Amino acid sequence: MDIPFNNERAVHEKCAVQIFNDADLACGHVADTIHALIKERNAAGEKTVLGLATGSTPVRLYRELIRRHQEEGLSFKNVITYNLDEYFGLDGDHPESYRRFMQDQLFDHVDILPENTHVPSGTVEREEAFASCQAYEDLIRESGGIDIQILGIGRTGHIGFNEPGSGPESRTRLVTLDSLTLRDAARDFLGKENVPRHAITMGVGTILDARQVFLLAWGEAKSGVIAKAVENQPTDAIPASFLQQHEDCLYCIDEGAASRLTRVRLPWLVGSVRWTAPMIRQAMVWLARRTGKALLKLTDEDYAENGMGELLTEKGPAHKLNIDIFNVTQHTITGWPGGKPNADDSCRPERADPSPKRSLLIAPEPTDDTLSMGGTLQRLVAQGHHVYLNYLTSGNLAVPDPDTRLALDLIIELGQGLEQNEESRHAKKVSDQLEAKGRFGEDTADIRHLKGLIRRGEVRSSARLFGVEADRITFLDLPFYENGRYRRFKTIDADVDKVTAQLQAIQPHQIFTTGMVSDPLSVASIGFQVLLQALARCHGEPWLEDCYIWLFAGSGGEWDTHEIDMAVPLSPNELSEKLQAIYQHQTQRSQSPSLNNNGAKNHWDTAAIINQQTARVYDALGLAEYEAIEGFKRFSL
Ligand code: F6R
Repeated sequence: MDIPFNNERAVHEKCAVQIFNDADLACGHVADTIHALIKERNAAGEKTVLGLATGSTPVRLYRELIRRHQEEGLSFKNVITYNLDEYFGLDGDHPESYRRFMQDQLFDHVDILPENTHVPSGTVEREEAFASCQAYEDLIRESGGIDIQILGIGRTGHIGFNEPGSGPESRTRLVTLDSLTLRDAARDFLGKENVPRHAITMGVGTILDARQVFLLAWGEAKSGVIAKAVENQPTDAIPASFLQQHEDCLYCIDEGAASRLTRVRLPWLVGSVRWTAPMIRQAMVWLARRTGKALLKLTDEDYAENGMGELLTEKGPAHKLNIDIFNVTQHTITGWPGGKPNADDSCRPERADPSPKRSLLIAPEPTDDTLSMGGTLQRLVAQGHHVYLNYLTSGNLAVPDPDTRLALDLIIELGQGLEQNEESRHAKKVSDQLEAKGRFGEDTADIRHLKGLIRRGEVRSSARLFGVEADRITFLDLPFYENGRYRRFKTIDADVDKVTAQLQAIQPHQIFTTGMVSDPLSVASIGFQVLLQALARCHGEPWLEDCYIWLFAGSGGEWDTHEIDMAVPLSPNELSEKLQAIYQHQTQRSQSPSLNNNGAKNHWDTAAIINQQTARVYDALGLAEYEAIEGFKRFSL
């Protein structure tokens, strides 16, 4: 990314931020610092004290530290660790406890002494919590204080479990979790009702006492809160913003998490930029939105008065720029996502030939396609293309237990009175397993299998509404997901083998898949990496030379307007049909909406609101007024 990094950024950013191309590079940087300190302390016979976080964010850092231990002899014998927090009520053996997480992700793989690892106890009696928190603070102090503190950030702006309202003086204590934090944790606990309501956390003041702090963040989902924490005045509404008061704190973030910083989003306001075609489009869409004018109505004064005088001088006058960008945006719109047969396609996003096309839709999880491109899917089918739906994972981890019980009861009841009813006998067995597992237990293989089947049923029922032929639906059930839990997935060769085989069998002319992949541990991101490896294996095959790859933003989001290469309009009817298809995914009704989409109560609503918002932006730019629009970015290998 071409990011201007000059002094003027300080006007907006109130603490040090380094943007890395990806999470691995950022983790490498932090691991270098930790490595150097441990080496120096080890050589002097001294201890190193690390403050550690859990969650998906630091996993790659821990993997890198483990690698350095195994391959470069980095020893943790003299390292003492203090974790930020623990769920109240969970003992260290619970699969979602932070103690368990740390054992699995780091401690069990390095030579750290067990007595040197500290995680607040989640099982102290409530009356003893205060004393236990004080004792934790005392221990940190007795160890000489924390040398390096690692932090993630929650979408509420929390660090540790210091939710909005936590001040800079706060210390280790028992807290209540914010409702958004509960929703974010619901996936890990297989249901919001299973998430503990309280936690023990170090305070903001405890964190600020550390000598050096690294806050890590990956992915677009964190971009809004990062911009607020870094650019706004410190406030207890965003506890991470108090890190601005720390003398040695560095935000190490990837491009996704940086995408809402002023220097990235509006670089022309921060310094000189290279006016490439994408940059001009980005700036002009912003200018039109800021002035509330259609693209074709922007004047020389609008440019000059809004920090875009340089663009005007270089590429102006206004009316020329206006018409150029109007045309570019206009040409993104097409009702023919598979290309319009027998039409001039020189200004269309997709080519006319061949027609019909083999259109392959690769959804990481079973609802991704319907939520993100249900309208486009209807059009592809209606326009006669051969649409193949491929689901990388079964999505069984996202099926709530009550829905599973409903299915089991049905099977059992249906089998009553019938002779030799194997299905119903099996259902009884699974039903007993469900009973036995209780609130915090692990799903057995049988339960996961059944949950996967429930989602298959939902997919078939929504695909039926779209008119996709049943034999063109493939459930790949990739092993990385079937054998894993959220945040702990690891891909293997068999994942890539399965996707490669599909690609080679279908030989698609176009592939649609999600591109919202900057959270490296998300299913979408892992699925995308697997797809890229599979495509690499197909390198040189003739079909691939002629295959267009279209990325949808993924559930809960949409590309910024200037990024959209293909905008597929939806009529009111098409939008309501898309919603009908979404409603077939009954088990997903209580998934949380994304934070940035006001008014949505669940992610079903979110899909419609996002598509309508995109249409409104196109309309405001002076293009045609549609009910809704689905946006895609073209991806080149
Ligand atoms: C973890 C912690 C939290 C997380 C934050 C981000 O110990 O205290 O503040 O860092 O919730 O979570 P992830 O990394 O899962 O997005």
